[in-house]
Amino acid sequence: FSEFLTDNYHRQHDYLRISVTERCNLRCLYCMPEKGVPLSPQSHLLTSPEIFYLSSLFVSQGVTKVRLTGGEPTVRRDIVPLMHSIGSLRPRGLRELAITTNGISLHRKLDSMVEAGLTGVNLSLDTLDPFQFQIMTRRKGFDAVQKSIDRILEMNKLGASIKLKINCVVMRGLNEREILPFVELGREKDIEVRFIEYMPFDGNKWSQGKMVSYADMLDIIRTKYPGIQKVNGHKNDTSKTWEVPGFVGKFGFITSMTHNFCGTCNRLRITSDGNLKVCLFDGTTEVSLRDLLRKGNNNNPIDEEAFEAMKQIEMDRHQGRISSETALGWGERERKLLEIIG
Ligand code: GTP
Ligand code: 5AD
Ligand code: SF4
Repeated sequence: FSEFLTDNYHRQHDYLRISVTERCNLRCLYCMPEKGVPLSPQSHLLTSPEIFYLSSLFVSQGVTKVRLTGGEPTVRRDIVPLMHSIGSLRPRGLRELAITTNGISLHRKLDSMVEAGLTGVNLSLDTLDPFQFQIMTRRKGFDAVQKSIDRILEMNKLGASIKLKINCVVMRGLNEREILPFVELGREKDIEVRFIEYMPFDGNKWSQGKMVSYADMLDIIRTKYPGIQKVNGHKNDTSKTWEVPGFVGKFGFITSMTHNFCGTCNRLRITSDGNLKVCLFDGTTEVSLRDLLRKGNNNNPIDEEAFEAMKQIEMDRHQGRISSETALGWGERERKLLEIIG
């Protein structure tokens, strides 16, 4: 495993998240403003050959999992061919190719994505009520998302093994009463629903009162299901997983606000404009892989330059020392709108 991808805490950064677009076809309340979403000029964004090149570079150094994120990755026109190219890295060490999506247009592309090597879908869905969906996303599309979920489950029945997780951001007064119905999805369906603590960033009108904490959510579930049990997760999971004994599916919590999980984080990130960063909370130390790639100096292969540059971004920065106070404070700092989901 590459020494460049290992830090002093022995974390091997074998999981790469690539944001393939800043654009999105929804306008979720906690994420984007209704109007005036700032977008970078096209020329600043990575092209598909660049994304493929960087993926193969990192896979050659030991990355085994690539997740495509956004914005909404399916709005990128060439998302399927891009997946095909990344999927072809399997014989070179890639084991998982996943996507984080809102599911609006996934059902149209799912079959070809699975053919291209897609192994996992994290699907954002905050409500099971079509009316509430329109309030929380400021758009229509609930049925289309259901179609995507159904198609995944159907393909799995037919022999595919697409790992499906639902991400549900819980906001007080909006969808906290849906926590139980979401847990109950797992009664018969093999889905992992993860409840996410609402996080603050640039202009999303976060307030502590609107956040429902891990402890509060557990209380709600325990009141109805006192027998719930914690499940041992994978060592680098961002979520804490639980189950109701007898249910097929599971549920979990992404507790970025009340219990950070930095100590086990193994994620590398490439933003849609080609910056490499290790930490979601760190907006200052980034290296532009795009600029290195576009310098086009054949005598100095990008591989060496990129890994040399990575040393500058101090892999130790996200060493698990971030306290919840820091986390609560970072919403006030200058942050780009979409960095958090990338
Ligand atoms: P898997 O573990 O591969 O299923 O994916 P994931 O949970 O890392 O990714 P996903 O895109 O589904 O993100 C779910 C939530 O976790 C989002 O709200 C992210 O903002 C948050 N998240 C992802 N990575 C990190 C991280 O390193 N730190 C923090 N604080 N939040 C993260
Ligand atoms: N707080 C918590 N989660 C968020 N997401 C987007 N914005 C926020 C926020 N402010 C979630 C999305 C998606 C995941 C990638 O990040 O719902 O599921
Ligand atoms: Fe995520 Fe940064 Fe915490 Fe690591 S240190 S878990 S990257 S927020």
